[in-house]
Amino acid sequence: MTLVPGTVRPRRLRSTAALRRLVSEVRLHPADLILPMFVKEGLTEPVPLTGMPGVVQHTLDSLLAAAREAVAAGVGGLMLFGIPEHRDEIGSQADDPEGILNRALRLLADDLGEDTVVMADLCLDEFTSHGHCGVLDSAGGVDNDATLDRYASMALAQARAGAQVLGLSGMMDGQVAYCREALDAAGFTDTVVMGYTAKYASAFYGPFREAVDSELQGDRKTYQQDPANGREALRELGLDLAEGADVVMVKPGLPYLDVLAEVAAESIVPVWTYQVSGEYAMIEFAAQAGAIDRERAIEESLVAFKRAGSDAILTYWATEVAQRLRAAAAGTLTGNQSAENHTAGGR
Ligand code: PBG
Repeated sequence: MTLVPGTVRPRRLRSTAALRRLVSEVRLHPADLILPMFVKEGLTEPVPLTGMPGVVQHTLDSLLAAAREAVAAGVGGLMLFGIPEHRDEIGSQADDPEGILNRALRLLADDLGEDTVVMADLCLDEFTSHGHCGVLDSAGGVDNDATLDRYASMALAQARAGAQVLGLSGMMDGQVAYCREALDAAGFTDTVVMGYTAKYASAFYGPFREAVDSELQGDRKTYQQDPANGREALRELGLDLAEGADVVMVKPGLPYLDVLAEVAAESIVPVWTYQVSGEYAMIEFAAQAGAIDRERAIEESLVAFKRAGSDAILTYWATEVAQRLRAAAAGTLTGNQSAENHTAGGR
């Protein structure tokens, strides 16, 4: 039988909203979304971020309220970043049980218990006076192996504070194995280690630097990956898996969908993606300028991560999107949805 051009009609499967829904390959679910949150020591009111409209630096009180709201919306987990009042060369506040991040972790873990998954960013950049992700050697470079000791100490402090997942975002060689060993030796065998496997030295972290009041001069190119390199991500993946990572991550998201797809194809553990601050800002500001439809652009960007193979996504829109997904599920094929059927029905 020959295929007659014009009889094969892919458009058939696109003809109604119900049919499109039936044949969609991936879909978003609130539980796939992880909300990154910032908590800053010494604040009396939340502080809005100019580079990320809608995102704030939280007080402990506002953090708790926002965390409860996210959990009520069904998000999969919360990733916490802490901004201390005092910074020093080695980031002492990072592993101090009374440091802001550890206090916040305790607060959320105690309040939310097993209703959600509380995660901690495990990195020194928010805590060091020089803003680097590790401690410096005498020449001013980032000292990989000395940093591992600091990370292991942070891992223990965060696990003790109640964090269930530790996000190792510093890109030091050996960090997964080193922290895993320290956790196990202290009895924290169930604490999950998530490796930021392929984390690129990216301009898209720009607004995040405001969010954590970063002190960084220069860049992170000696430890984060070069945007030109994809193969290197698979090397990092091999190492993280061998070192015992329970989850791996690709970051940023949209500029690295090819890397995400390759990592997802190879990984034997869950793969997550971080839709970073600059990606958030691009959509928010383009929408503010009237250039794109905000909600559709947000959803399309998240669906792209699922299609490329991501299991869960860290996104600053997690609560909003989770709420929208819930409302849409409750209204399935009534109201809006059937209205869409009618308007979209004609060829
Ligand atoms: C480092 C860290 C960064 C981000 C998350 N963890 C900044 C960096 O590596 O420079 C960026 C997240 C974002 O841009 O949303 N602890």
